[in-house]
Amino acid sequence: MKVAIPKERRAYEARVATTPDAIKRMKPLGLTFLVEAGAGTTAAITDQAFIDAGAEIVSDNAALLAQADIVLKVARPLTAAEGTDELAAMKPGTVLISQLDPYRNREQVADYAKRNIVAVAMELVPRITRAQSMDVLSSQANLAGYKAVIDAAEQFGRAFPMMMTAAGTVAPAKVMVMGAGVAGLQAIATARRLGAVVSATDVRMAAKEQVESLGANFVFVDDEEVRQAETSGGYAKEMSDAYKAKQAALIAETIKKMDVVICTALIPGRPAPRLVSDAMVASMKPGSIVIDLAVENGGNCEGAELGKIVVKHGVKIVGYANVPSRLAVDASSLYARNLAEYLKLIVQKDGTLKLDREDEIVKGSLLTQDGQIVHAAFAPAPAAAQ
Ligand code: NAI
Repeated sequence: MKVAIPKERRAYEARVATTPDAIKRMKPLGLTFLVEAGAGTTAAITDQAFIDAGAEIVSDNAALLAQADIVLKVARPLTAAEGTDELAAMKPGTVLISQLDPYRNREQVADYAKRNIVAVAMELVPRITRAQSMDVLSSQANLAGYKAVIDAAEQFGRAFPMMMTAAGTVAPAKVMVMGAGVAGLQAIATARRLGAVVSATDVRMAAKEQVESLGANFVFVDDEEVRQAETSGGYAKEMSDAYKAKQAALIAETIKKMDVVICTALIPGRPAPRLVSDAMVASMKPGSIVIDLAVENGGNCEGAELGKIVVKHGVKIVGYANVPSRLAVDASSLYARNLAEYLKLIVQKDGTLKLDREDEIVKGSLLTQDGQIVHAAFAPAPAAAQ
């Protein structure tokens, strides 16, 4: 079976879906790897490194995709409306394994079915222990949380650690992390390592212990609703208006004392919760920094703009797009390992593919098969009602 790895063509995307190391790890699967020329350049991987790992280099994108049985990608294919139809060259029955952002691109999910592409959305792999090594959300969010703090430190006109010098004392930076999931916990750890005094908030009670074990102060509204705020999958629910009002008052009180705010709060399949208002930004000291990692999902901070740094009330609001891609080398390496583990699950000993929908991991991540949308969350209305 031929596995194609095209060059990523979306804006802000510097990652690549496999690496020479991952190809070597997948050797026992007996697959043939075809990599588009230059696919690894932005992640510091040369064509020669792919060749040395046993892959073939193909210079033409369409010719590469046309011969693939499996396509590995980082980001969902471009559509005709975006200028290039990246699905066009794939033959019916091709298995496309990628982050597909399906909640925000439901029409594209229908298109995979129409074109008989077998689409696997890696971000839907269930967060169960057996699937930890395939968890692209964790591998990428962890790096984003780290990078958010580094980006904040770069933009901040002051130091993070306390410094006692003959010329006077530099106070430690006060950092607030909104959302203590994978990205938030890494942001807390990174900010602490840099010497900041860190606070964090979340709506999941389970986050309290994790935040405190990293040496940060947990700030949250403790009421009845917060005890039900976590879904069985470990995710946050959207909170009631009454809770949001109480949370906003607490955040407003806390945020005005902060130098740096790192926003990481997300709700799967929903717009990101709005946690930082313009008035809260205005209450911060000039020169303070807000990093909004949720900007692609609508942002946690009012005024954040995708791909831009905007200055409001003397505060820089940083809305860098695709933050994991800003660490393209590590992000590609971890992502490639996640995909390799998924392939190990679906490639059988005889080298054929088996997408077994009885398997919880396949069932959770498979969007389309045999020309149909097979995922319960995306099935057309009548089927979903059954
Ligand atoms: P996420 O990216 O969906 O959200 C980030 C954080 O924002 C979450 O902690 C969420 O509770 C928080 N949040 C949402 N709405 C908020 C609000 N209004 N105010 C404040 N915070 C808010 O979450 P992520 O990082 O993907 O983690 C989700 C869960 O999955 C966590 O419980 C995590 O521990 C768990 N997990 C489990 C793994 C496993 O293998 N079992 C692996 C990775 C994560």
